[in-house]
Amino acid sequence: MKSEKAEPARIVVLVSGSGSNMQVIAEACAKNEIDGDITAVISNRPDVMGLQRAKELGIATDVVDHTQFPTREEFDANLIRAIDEHTPDLIVLAGFMRILTSDFVRRYKGKMLNIHPSLLPKYKGLNTHQRALDAGDKEAGVTVHFVSEDLDGGANIIQAIVPVLDDDDEGTLRSRVQTQEHVIYPIAVKWFVEGRISLNKGDAYFDGQPLPDTGLKLTQ
Ligand code: GAR
Repeated sequence: MKSEKAEPARIVVLVSGSGSNMQVIAEACAKNEIDGDITAVISNRPDVMGLQRAKELGIATDVVDHTQFPTREEFDANLIRAIDEHTPDLIVLAGFMRILTSDFVRRYKGKMLNIHPSLLPKYKGLNTHQRALDAGDKEAGVTVHFVSEDLDGGANIIQAIVPVLDDDDEGTLRSRVQTQEHVIYPIAVKWFVEGRISLNKGDAYFDGQPLPDTGLKLTQ
């Protein structure tokens, strides 16, 4: 019997801004480094660069504008409808700056990834680079993790660590970290679509082995 190759994974990416992480993932898909396709890019803001980039890449776009909904629940319900139209295997949050309801998170449990610009569990929330500088940290970085109901609190998959230099300001540190974001997010997506990473009872596994709390570490 002829064995048929599985279809490429269907990936929906949620953005709120520039979309540079979405773009590197799209490029890795186009080069077949990731056996997947971004089937849609959805933004909660209508005029962002992430939508423009998606259009230039020939990817379908949609907007679910959070300002048009009176409650978080109604926004999330509409976002779910927009996402589910694309029957995704994976949801990728790439600079999606909304707090999600528990219902939303539970619906996509184990198949939703986020990137956060700190070495989680350090510096959940906003202004991560300035907080690392203010604390005098010698290392900073970025984490890809499964999304859980705790904000920036799901199981870590991979972290990239960068040095903090004496003359760094927020901009230079952000840019050093973002270079690494563009390395580790495509790697994590590739692992997911290959079935190498999974979430079980809140813990992340790689090739069936539990990952350390940090996730795998990439050091510059
Ligand atoms: C990235 O730096 C990402 O780590 C951060 O938003 C930026 C999006 O950039 N995400 C968060 O802060 C999530 N809490 P991009 O739109 O160019 O990919």
